[in-house]
Amino acid sequence: MYILGVSCYYHDAAAALLQDGVLLAAAEEERFSRIKHDYGFPRKAIQFCLDQAGLEGKDLDYVVFFEKPFRKFDRILMTTLQTYPQSWKVFREAMISWMVDKLWVATTLQSELRVGKEKILFSQHHLSHAASAYLCSPFEEAAILTVDGVGEWVTGTYGVGHGNDIKLHKQMEFPHSLGLLYSAFTAFLGFEVNEGEYKVMGMAPYGEPRYVDKVWKVVQQNQDGSFALDMDYFSFHHSTDQTYNQKFVSLFGDPRSPKALFFTKGTGFPKYFGTPPGNFLELSKQNQHYADIAASIQRVTEELLLGMANHLYRQTGLKRLCMAGGVALNSVANTRILNETPFEELYVQPAAGDGGGALGAALWAYNILLGKPREFRMEHAYWGRSNSEAEIGDFLRENNIPHRRVDSEDRLLDQVVNHLTSAKVVGWSQGRFEWGPRALGNRSILADPRNPEMKDIVNAKIKFREPYRPFAPSVLAEQTEKYFDLPGAVRHAPARYMLYVVPVRELQKATLPAITHVDGTGRLQTVFREQSPRYYRLIERFGQATGVPVVLNTSFNLKGEPIVNTPGNAFNTFSKSEMDVLVLENFIIEKQFD
Ligand SMILES: [Fe+2]
Repeated sequence: MYILGVSCYYHDAAAALLQDGVLLAAAEEERFSRIKHDYGFPRKAIQFCLDQAGLEGKDLDYVVFFEKPFRKFDRILMTTLQTYPQSWKVFREAMISWMVDKLWVATTLQSELRVGKEKILFSQHHLSHAASAYLCSPFEEAAILTVDGVGEWVTGTYGVGHGNDIKLHKQMEFPHSLGLLYSAFTAFLGFEVNEGEYKVMGMAPYGEPRYVDKVWKVVQQNQDGSFALDMDYFSFHHSTDQTYNQKFVSLFGDPRSPKALFFTKGTGFPKYFGTPPGNFLELSKQNQHYADIAASIQRVTEELLLGMANHLYRQTGLKRLCMAGGVALNSVANTRILNETPFEELYVQPAAGDGGGALGAALWAYNILLGKPREFRMEHAYWGRSNSEAEIGDFLRENNIPHRRVDSEDRLLDQVVNHLTSAKVVGWSQGRFEWGPRALGNRSILADPRNPEMKDIVNAKIKFREPYRPFAPSVLAEQTEKYFDLPGAVRHAPARYMLYVVPVRELQKATLPAITHVDGTGRLQTVFREQSPRYYRLIERFGQATGVPVVLNTSFNLKGEPIVNTPGNAFNTFSKSEMDVLVLENFIIEKQFD
């Protein structure tokens, strides 16, 4: 039985294909369309899933959309009418796009895939999130917490998974949304909403949470973990381009300019920014203020999530927790939930945001609606498209790109390790691309984490990266605890997907300067031999050569672009940056210096 899950028209569009309840392929549309966070109909991602299984649309048994368009339409209609006439612009734009695209999802799916109406099913937004976590997890029973911006009406749920069923027993509703609260601060701090949330999290450790009291003025939490935003401070419910209002500005001061460079007195002025400005001290003071605001919203977000998780534990008494929704990508908060609540194990799958809704919708249909037993556990993120040797060879020859093909994997890995230990920055593409926003060793840029200059070297070579964006370490799973404070590391699934941020061990901070963030932490990826064989062997080799089985791993893309997919994307990124070496499966391309 083949079931295709589809999510689109809000954040990240994606498709996921199950065969008899087991995932065959899953990908976000942005990797194919090359439009970051592409939310349009995921035509290319669907085609990829079908090709991967050798199917046509007519072979599908069900096509499942990740939410209920009419219910969402109802929310937009109701909220805009309540805030009319302020919301006139939202209302008009929403009407146009809903009339053109969204209410006709079933018709679009039928005509694009050539499937009958009876094969089209609709899940619910948060049920899809919940299913995307619990039904992929190894747990037979677990508490479930979903938290995001907003689905149809719902912004968060508490639930329980048992066997192949899920019960959601409490929900929070729009406009009271933790995702939208975080996004308002993301916009205030000069970053793009739905894109810059990571930057807020990365900036927070540069600041002190001095403004938590002020943040608690705009949001209050109840005993049961639910919370309410004071809507006097926000405008996302009646505006298309402004998430916070003048009252918010009166409380927190002027917003940060999106063009401002980030540095503080502590960081100094990074070399790759050029010559320090005359008013360095004044600008660093301003940045410090914004870093303090980032630290404050991050702290309150963590407290809100801890409140929810603790309540959920009190209600369920279960020791395992599955999380999904965009907020579950907040890896700093995830670690606090692990460490500071009675939950002993968490499960978060790598596409915890709306893209993952495609997977959740398909699993919901198979396991819950059709009542079939659970056949699938997600143990890695490599569900995207791979590039064949022939495809890479043809690309390189047709474009006259000088290259070497290295047949022996041993020799290939030795050469890559030599480059890394010679302070070179390596673009590394192999196998199927990753599901979700993180690069996990199949479309990654790699470097030596031991080199204290490496942060600056990577920032300078791969231009336009901000200094508050930390570089992540990939470590051999069995050796994690020597370098990072994560007891029982191998059993923690979120660490496979960089969804925990943990302290680098005190004695190892000097060993790993390039991946140790300003607060002494690292957003680690534990790498397993069975699931990532070639990447594992590379890190193993690096460990044999240097004594340290850890590499610096950052996503293979330029700022503002989706992570690379094809040899063409990878070569383009390699050419536009000052990356030294590009490895595409068994092919090595070195930069030719004139
Ligand atoms: Fe969502």
